[in-house]
Amino acid sequence: MPDQALNDARTSPAAVWTKLESLKGDDLIAWRTADVPDRPSPDERKLDDRFPFGWFAVSYSDELAIGEVKAVRYFARDLVVWRGEDGQARVLDAYCRHLGAHMGYGGRVNGNDLECPFHAWQYNENGAVTRIPYARMIPPQAKRDNCVRAWPVVERNGLVWLWYHPDNVAQLFEIDSYSEVGSPGWTAYKKFEWRVFNSIGNMHDNGLDMAHFFYVHRTAAFPESETVIEGHRMRSVARAKLGTPRGEVDGAIVSQNSSPGQGCVRFTGISETLLVSAVTPVERDQLHVRFAFTQPQAEAEGPMGGLARALIRDICKQLDQDKIIWDRQRNEPEPLMCDGDGPVPMARERYAQFLSAEAFERAKGKTRRIETKPRV
Ligand code: FES
Ligand SMILES: [Fe+2]
Repeated sequence: MPDQALNDARTSPAAVWTKLESLKGDDLIAWRTADVPDRPSPDERKLDDRFPFGWFAVSYSDELAIGEVKAVRYFARDLVVWRGEDGQARVLDAYCRHLGAHMGYGGRVNGNDLECPFHAWQYNENGAVTRIPYARMIPPQAKRDNCVRAWPVVERNGLVWLWYHPDNVAQLFEIDSYSEVGSPGWTAYKKFEWRVFNSIGNMHDNGLDMAHFFYVHRTAAFPESETVIEGHRMRSVARAKLGTPRGEVDGAIVSQNSSPGQGCVRFTGISETLLVSAVTPVERDQLHVRFAFTQPQAEAEGPMGGLARALIRDICKQLDQDKIIWDRQRNEPEPLMCDGDGPVPMARERYAQFLSAEAFERAKGKTRRIETKPRV
């Protein structure tokens, strides 16, 4: 590589980098969320038409002020998010059961309730109508919970999370907390986002798809890793020599994930970094991916700040590289696999827990350990 310094241990670019090399700065940021208009239909790509259950981010906490109402679209549904005067975030389906206004546009917060912009009916967090200012009586049906469907919400790690279950089953597990987020000495989030045109199931394969790390991300070798799947949780530790502009360093990457939409990755070696990742389905073939990074201030703002920033750039570049594949990838329900592929089938088995209550129950209390060794 003519433009790389002699002691730069990064390997040469993979094929997908040629597309990315021409994208820099604002163009790259715009590309990450731009439409891919000529992609094949979800049916042609055989994409799963189910969304998994679990916790999914719908907003950053600091992007939803007290009294603010936001329209969002996730799970192929229009939703409305608001923060009441008590500081709590709430989510309902967006359409008012009176005459169908979308409450995310012009709706306002009244106390802790949401007021529809059309005729001022007010809803509480359970989706029940609490007030109709011009009526003597609220219709009994409107007073019931879920008159407009309400979604359980928890705020943690600086994000607003919604519990999604297609059959309205109450939450089956908690969201992990990450102690670094908001701690003194740690930077405020650096936020990045993508629209990935694929199903969340295909994206979920990625962490255990060992061969792609070399061919797509050009990691120096297939990483050596240990993954433990315990019930619905997955935790993996990968050790690798990390290529940096200043040579190779020993690095460890520890990731934990309680459900397909919610996880974190801790990087050590170059610069300590916590990545909080949130993947939320938008449509059958579209995902909203959020990456939020926090680092120790002493490293991020000190003399080694350049390395801390470079690490974030490299991690985002990996997502860019995957996105080029993901945006047009088809689902292969029965893939042809080879002996070097690593544990992709186990990733799929683990993912299946979030599609069926029976599979979730069956996996409870079971532990599987998967080790991968460098091959190239
Ligand atoms: S449509 Fe919402 S109050 Fe009439
Ligand atoms: Fe990847």
